[in-house]
Amino acid sequence: MPATILVTYRPPGDAMERLADLGDIDLWEGEDAIPRNELLERIGKADGIYSMLTDRIDDELLDAAPRLHVVSNMAVGFDNIDVAACTARGIPVGHTPNVLTETVADTAFGLMIAAARRFGEGVDYVRSDKWKKWEPELLWGYDIHGATLGIVGFGRIGMAIAKRAAGFSMRVIATSRRWSSRAEDLGVTPVDFPELLARSDHVVIAVPLTQETHHMFDESAFSAMKASATLVNISRGGTVDTDALVEALREGRLGAAGLDVTDPEPLPGDHPLLAQPNAYVIPHLGSSTARTRHAMANFAVDNIAAAFEGRALRATVNPEVSPRPLVG
Ligand code: DGY
Repeated sequence: MPATILVTYRPPGDAMERLADLGDIDLWEGEDAIPRNELLERIGKADGIYSMLTDRIDDELLDAAPRLHVVSNMAVGFDNIDVAACTARGIPVGHTPNVLTETVADTAFGLMIAAARRFGEGVDYVRSDKWKKWEPELLWGYDIHGATLGIVGFGRIGMAIAKRAAGFSMRVIATSRRWSSRAEDLGVTPVDFPELLARSDHVVIAVPLTQETHHMFDESAFSAMKASATLVNISRGGTVDTDALVEALREGRLGAAGLDVTDPEPLPGDHPLLAQPNAYVIPHLGSSTARTRHAMANFAVDNIAAAFEGRALRATVNPEVSPRPLVG
């Protein structure tokens, strides 16, 4: 019997054709993300799931998935997946690191510049026909060059951001659970979180969302930051307490925010965050270039192919699980 692969969103490029070579495809083609009841129903017949970061893979779903051999997330982040629950059932979980590192680092830098230099307000100013003359004091922002950049989480993406910062003559400080000699080579100073908050002119969140990092940017973190600071988030929205962020921006206790990710996500158009002129929000575009999304899509196919053959995945978050080959 051919394998069945549940695909929760049509991937770009030839990934779909490659998946079809691996088994029968059950593709969700609805306009919105696959609803929970559909996921619960369809997972029952699936040998593999090609999932998106919006699909919650938890005990309830796994209990409804007696045939499941592999979870392959088309993302580097995997906070949507209960990895321990997959491991307990011997199910390998694949993700797509490395191929998106540089693109996401570009996004972080773009957001930092756009938010700190008030590009959003500038665009609105022109669009609303307010631009009548050149003004020496129009929309002053904060410099990037020569400023202190605080990177929270010095993994692959944090490191790629630090490389860019060198070209802007920034001082870079960072927090990390693990340090590699690369940090020293890049001239990055390790600091603890309170010091990072106090010293940074711009802060980029590059840690994964976990129980420890959930709401690490809360009211007390904002109080510890410079009132002129820019906060950039390219990680997951849940690392920031959105209500506290709105208050900090509204009360002028934070300079600006450049956000690729939000909580909730998607952010409704009438959310109070969007009423803050100094909030520059884009819809989770961190890795969104054709080249990178094609690479991610194919990476996630490679992970399914490997698992079905009982080989090690190209990248897994639970390497202790040995894939069981599909028989039949
Ligand atoms: C990821 O891969 O986790 C990113 O958030 C996608 O842009």
